[in-house]
Amino acid sequence: MNENGNNREQWGSRVGFILACLGSAVGLGNIWRFSTTAGENGGGAFLVVYLLIVLLIGIPVVMAEFTIGRKAQSDAVGAFQKLAPGKPWFIAGFMGVASSFIILSFYAVVAGWVMKYFFGYITGALVNVPENDFTGYFVNFIGKPVEPVLWQFIFMAMTIGIVVVGVQKGIEASNKFLMPMLGILLVVLAIYSLTLGGAKEGLTFLFSPDWSKLSDPQLYLEALGQAFFSLSLGMGALITYGGYLKQENKLPTAALSVGVLDTFVAVLAGILIFPAVFAFGLDPAGGAGLVFMTLPNVFDQMAFGGLVGAAFFFLLFAAALSSSVSLLEVAVAYFMRKFDWNRKKAVLIIGSIIFVLGIPSSISQGAVPITVMDRDFLTFMDELSGNILLPLGGLFIALFMGWGVKKADALRDSDFGNTVIGHLWFWSVRVLAPVAILLIFLNKIGIIG
Ligand code: PFF
Repeated sequence: MNENGNNREQWGSRVGFILACLGSAVGLGNIWRFSTTAGENGGGAFLVVYLLIVLLIGIPVVMAEFTIGRKAQSDAVGAFQKLAPGKPWFIAGFMGVASSFIILSFYAVVAGWVMKYFFGYITGALVNVPENDFTGYFVNFIGKPVEPVLWQFIFMAMTIGIVVVGVQKGIEASNKFLMPMLGILLVVLAIYSLTLGGAKEGLTFLFSPDWSKLSDPQLYLEALGQAFFSLSLGMGALITYGGYLKQENKLPTAALSVGVLDTFVAVLAGILIFPAVFAFGLDPAGGAGLVFMTLPNVFDQMAFGGLVGAAFFFLLFAAALSSSVSLLEVAVAYFMRKFDWNRKKAVLIIGSIIFVLGIPSSISQGAVPITVMDRDFLTFMDELSGNILLPLGGLFIALFMGWGVKKADALRDSDFGNTVIGHLWFWSVRVLAPVAILLIFLNKIGIIG
């Protein structure tokens, strides 16, 4: 029995909880996905919309997930069943568990590429331009049928290794180590990148918006999807993590810290990547390959580039691992409760299923042409989760908080109480967030706008 009167595992400290949530939030999304999406959507204009969405929708929904999780002390599905028995809200939880399978399946593939690149820098294979240049090297590597799957397997095995140890000794302990290291590496690399001569152009690209871009509805959908993906929102990861929190640990500052720091890391990653890209005359809209094909050129031309490359890919690996741990935990927590499985059984079974589910994403990169709706399978899974499932999940979570529970309860359970900021938060989840998400959706599918 713990202090909450149940037998569930718990975080050791509030800081441990915040670091774990930050570990979940900061991931490939901040570095690989953010730089790609910002680069393809014009940089500055994207950033402005992104920041507004994080502040007005993202952080309030983080608060909603924390509130639901801590109150219910359960997993993504169980939380809704406990707080609203007999009502259909738990479907949002099911969507979340499904999203965790989908996201982790392709996430581990990309994380596997990151590991390959890290070893490439350590062993020297990537320190000099390969025979077929960096683009050829990448395309050739991801097009192989077996090797990328092996890296994906190693990455999944490491994720499984952490989650199997448990909430406090596995997830919390690994994040306490990974997050500070990641912060230091990122700051050092960003400062170095600013000394390379492309700082002015890179920073202009990122920070001075071309307002004409704001007329493109795609920009809003991409910014919304990116915000949800980056903050780990809309699939119950933060409900699940909040479910291991003691009642006395306060929520609002935790939500604010996670939202602000996650965004800070994304911007810092932009400051690291774009000046370097411009310094070497490369294209910022380089797409998903930006990190794997463009940046190695940058490292190649830098002093100590091999070392910087190794540090960069290690950073990316650490960020990916702490996020994948949270993705796996969403499904594991659900299956442990629902089927009374122990942690080991749940982790091994679900981890294996997700690994197998990821294989089509891996081989769709060249070995076997698997496409859905004109996209390769990995891109399809990425867009399905980021642009559809997570915003939809976020919509339900906001609606639940804003309409499914009494206002007085929401204010009390969130620790806001009867404060101005509490009322603002409540109106955000009740009206602003749902309306904004719906408008962006409808606009995108061409019903309005
Ligand atoms: N937030 C992670 C990233 O930015 O890479 C990805 C992610 C993790 C999404 C956990 C959703 C989630 F539940």
